[in-house]
Amino acid sequence: MLSAKSLFQEILDNDESFRLFCSIAASGESQGGWENARIAALVPQSERALAAKITRHGADEDKHGRIFNALMKKRGLEPVEVPPATDYTMLLEQSGIGLAHEKLKGDQPLTVQDIVIYLAHSRVTEQRASEEMELLRTYFADHPDIGRAVRMISNDEDNHLAYCHEELLRFAAAGHGRVIQRTLRECARAEIRVYRDVSLAVMADMGRILGWPKAKSAVLAAGIHAVYLYERLGGWRRMVSLKMPERRDALGGPATASAEFA
Ligand SMILES: [Fe+2]
Ligand SMILES: [Fe+2]
Repeated sequence: MLSAKSLFQEILDNDESFRLFCSIAASGESQGGWENARIAALVPQSERALAAKITRHGADEDKHGRIFNALMKKRGLEPVEVPPATDYTMLLEQSGIGLAHEKLKGDQPLTVQDIVIYLAHSRVTEQRASEEMELLRTYFADHPDIGRAVRMISNDEDNHLAYCHEELLRFAAAGHGRVIQRTLRECARAEIRVYRDVSLAVMADMGRILGWPKAKSAVLAAGIHAVYLYERLGGWRRMVSLKMPERRDALGGPATASAEFA
């Protein structure tokens, strides 16, 4: 039977597919780490209090990148180059979502509006990260090799999402509501497209590596298109709502260590 669990299991069991999966994940995480570190460095004076949380966010993402690399190392695998069609963060940036890397590479302080846009972008992408990790946690929380990593990353992504909700609500109350709503909608529309394209590309690579029959690949591609259709027809709304989270100040403390994985 074709299920999300059997699919992940198959990818985990094969060295080639496992290393591609981890390489893609590690690269997306480190990219997120870099972006957050740059944003933290360029936070405008009036938002200094937020800088520590953005730094913590970046430190978490860097840690996730190291964890995925450590999982490969544990199996004696070297990372592979990430195929451009599977590079979620790069494709998002190319569709104009989030802050341009040119801006982040510079040394001009960001504006408050930039920070609001960054948070709205994160609210959308962290929702995706949180849902993906929750799926992995459902199936593999007790897995001997990846269980701990999955539980830790999943918990962090939930924190990131909670933090985005809380900070965006604060900015909405301070009068940024319209920009926030507009940015969230634009982001969600672009994200569901990029997510579909990346999913199709990843599945095509996995199919090649694992020698899937045409029929299986076709069923998976149809599933990915169905998810996109659901998201376009209304599923996107879950990515743009704002609700005060149960976990307040989720990024208030220092980052937790990843020493046990490295
Ligand atoms: Fe992450
Ligand atoms: Fe995250």
